[in-house]
Amino acid sequence: MSSSSRVVSDELMKLQRDYCDKVRNIYNIRGKERPMAYTQTLGCQQNEADTELIRGMLAMMGFGFCDSIAEADVVIINTCAIRDHAEQRVYGNVGELSHAKKENPNLVTVLCGCMAQQSHVAKRVRESYPYVDIVFGTHALQRFPQLLFTCLSTGKRVFDLEGDEKGAIIEGIEPVRKKGRRAWLSIMYGCNNFCSYCVVPYVRGRERSRAPEVIIEEFKSLVAQGYKDITLLGQNVNSYGSDLEGACDFPTLLERINDIPGEFWVRFMTSHPKDATPRLFDVMAKCQKVCDSIHLPVQAGNDRVLADMNRRYTAEKYLSLVAYARSVMPDITMTSDIIVGFPGETNEEFEDTISLLEKVRFDSLFTFIFSPRKGTRAYDMPDVLTKEEKQQNFDRLLEVQNRISKEKNDEYVGRRVRVLVGEEENEKNYNNDYTKQSRTEGFKLVYLRGADGLEGQFVDAVIEKSSTWALFGAVCRDEEK
Ligand code: SAH
Ligand code: SF4
Ligand code: F3S
Repeated sequence: MSSSSRVVSDELMKLQRDYCDKVRNIYNIRGKERPMAYTQTLGCQQNEADTELIRGMLAMMGFGFCDSIAEADVVIINTCAIRDHAEQRVYGNVGELSHAKKENPNLVTVLCGCMAQQSHVAKRVRESYPYVDIVFGTHALQRFPQLLFTCLSTGKRVFDLEGDEKGAIIEGIEPVRKKGRRAWLSIMYGCNNFCSYCVVPYVRGRERSRAPEVIIEEFKSLVAQGYKDITLLGQNVNSYGSDLEGACDFPTLLERINDIPGEFWVRFMTSHPKDATPRLFDVMAKCQKVCDSIHLPVQAGNDRVLADMNRRYTAEKYLSLVAYARSVMPDITMTSDIIVGFPGETNEEFEDTISLLEKVRFDSLFTFIFSPRKGTRAYDMPDVLTKEEKQQNFDRLLEVQNRISKEKNDEYVGRRVRVLVGEEENEKNYNNDYTKQSRTEGFKLVYLRGADGLEGQFVDAVIEKSSTWALFGAVCRDEEK
């Protein structure tokens, strides 16, 4: 266990455990043996992992979980602030709580997460959304039992955005994860990079790494529980351990996880290209259980734009990383994030992004139109392009990438690949023989036929067809155990 004073340890959680008992008592007195909670997650995987911790605390307070607001005693909306669209969605969802509160005046409504960490948001909620009872930011996550107790016992609204930007490392809460084969495991919190467009360092505080021993133990317990596709989470996993006084860096952590007995895949996100090293790729290539797959956000293909974004690498450096990764893992799957219409980006500069796409040929992309975030350096930077021009560039980017994605998927037809069969059916039900969903090591979606009864198992499949978004394959029965 790290000796860092920032660790919110088991011992410090004792106080919160006491509050858990107090909340449980209040509901028992009200005749509710098993109050119900409804949680909604609107952000990234890290946000999802936070919701799992919140559900862990709710379970400690005696809550069960329901699938609709109508059945709930407590509703929790875990928010995201990354783009304006995400924030607008939150205000839309919060609006719906007014109706739910009228139906059930005892309902406790909670807003938390990255957006709630911002003081201007808390102010707006305080003034314009009186039916929101509790607001707390990412820094106050571990105080949730105390906040709920205060609200229930006083009947007053509670706001808690406290916590310094150094932040805390939370240990001692057992997350309540989704059932299935996939699990998230946070290895670090926060971000130090201050990319000029990004709100994350402001709402999540500075980078801090969990102790390797704690991570390894949690990983082992996930394997014991039957999880087989485990994703290590951090805003920049490649700088994992830089605050642990040299105890363990990210490639070493991967090696140690690879040594854990059991049948599983481990993957990670996100990698910042400035900190991705040849050693990382060597370790990925060597470690059998570490997926040959990487999400390596490039954001733009033009060096002036990259510098303005404060990304601290050039397009050439990025291409050389890609070339190295492919030299040691020829089949590595690569995905990336791109921002279109960053302030000051010209059409000529955007062409460099297109040409980078043609050179790298990513398997798929996450694409975003720049959204100004209050408090970030890019917020006030002037635009060169109009909204319409940005949209045109965005559409073109999608067109180019969709073609590349289809071509890359076509290359799989006729090949035999290892997949992990999911529990879900093929919901869309197209190509109706292919009833089961599965994922490859590169996280490609494969709809399978002949996979009944193989849920949760690794099997080999031969790919028979492809589309832009998915592959279609048949299980090789000779491989069946
Ligand atoms: N830490 C990760 C991801 C952070 S957010 C990383 O560095 O890659 C995920 C993606 O959202 C980013 O990679 C970026 O492409 C996008 N993004 C972040 N801020 C944005 C903004 N203000 N406008 C548009 N896209 C943004
Ligand atoms: Fe945001 Fe950059 Fe940090 Fe990613 S690395 S979270 S984009 S500041
Ligand atoms: Fe994630 Fe959104 Fe926060 S992307 S880190 S939930 S701002």
